[in-house]
Amino acid sequence: MKALVLAGGSGTRLRPFSHSMPKQLIPLANKPILEYVLEDVGRMGVTEVAMIVGRWAADIVRVIGDGARFGLRISYIEQDQPLGLAHCVRLARPILGDDDFVMYLGDNVLPDGAADVAAEFRARRPAAHIVVQKVADPHRFGIVEVAANGAVERLVEKPAQPRSDLAVVGVYFFTAAIHRAVASIAPSDRGELEITDAIQWLLANGAAVEASRYEGYWRDIGHTEDVLACNGRLLGALRPDIAGEVDDASSVVGDVVVEHGARVVRSRIEGPAIVGAHTLIEDSHVGPNTAIGRACTLYATDLAESIVQDGSSISSVRGLRSSVIGRSAAIKSIDHGSPYHRLAISDHVSVELAG
Ligand code: DAU
Repeated sequence: MKALVLAGGSGTRLRPFSHSMPKQLIPLANKPILEYVLEDVGRMGVTEVAMIVGRWAADIVRVIGDGARFGLRISYIEQDQPLGLAHCVRLARPILGDDDFVMYLGDNVLPDGAADVAAEFRARRPAAHIVVQKVADPHRFGIVEVAANGAVERLVEKPAQPRSDLAVVGVYFFTAAIHRAVASIAPSDRGELEITDAIQWLLANGAAVEASRYEGYWRDIGHTEDVLACNGRLLGALRPDIAGEVDDASSVVGDVVVEHGARVVRSRIEGPAIVGAHTLIEDSHVGPNTAIGRACTLYATDLAESIVQDGSSISSVRGLRSSVIGRSAAIKSIDHGSPYHRLAISDHVSVELAG
């Protein structure tokens, strides 16, 4: 079995972060989303990967490379425009050949992995094997209607009036039968070649389509809330490790990682949390579910339930919660009696000030 990983697309829902990085490289527990995807693909026993990349191709290649550190061989395929998930299958045909493959969306995180579903697919080899999970907001997803006996009856992409709350998870297993389906469908109303339409085409043409209910944790990283929720979940799975320095006036409680070269001075860190390499935390409180990147500085600051990306500094800011701070950002509280806030922020940023 091969893998097709989708890391193109526009990521507009994740602005402002997607202005400066592809959403697939947003760090969760200090590791890019795409690395979790590739680790899971590796656990399925796959070694050959085709990866679709768009305008952020150079950044993705720089971070991920040839795949050797994941035990994978990755070939990159450039997609000029995000013309849809089924369009990606068309583009990858020369690399996939007639092999079975797993198609893994590069913005889907399944910390418990999908190796069990891969084994089920390998045992029966239906034309398509999809993974489904109940969701509270079905209009955001591809939706599956299932008969009383569990048979897949219909798939609809982001229906306005969903007739089921079973969403398609972004991990799909296919035999070569999918290639005729993606060649036969036309673009949807939103102008994309939808993989849901291709699977619906298989159903309409009598091919076997199976679905497994996924009981593990799953997030499609579509919005900032998904980033924070998934970050907390992945931090909870980290093994505590203090490789950096924590002085005697500091306390570290719960599962905390302090990476090499990081320093914690007169501060309190409550896990699950990670402090990236060469970061300085001084006179601060870092609450649970927080990932601080590499080479950051926190001074006299209190934050929790948040992500601070590499190279950022925060000084004298109390009560930061549920925040995502990009790379090399500077946030400080000024102390010369000014009654005003002063912001220099870029497009599509969201700021909520208390009081
Ligand atoms: O996450 C599960 C959902 O993913 C499914 O329930 C939907 O049926 C499926 O269409 C998909 O919906 P999204 O709207 O979330 O897909 P998105 O546009 O975010 O793209 C998913 C990934 O594929 C993302 O990493 C970007 C990449 N992509 C997307 C398109 C449209 C490409 O590489 N090329 C593309 O043309």
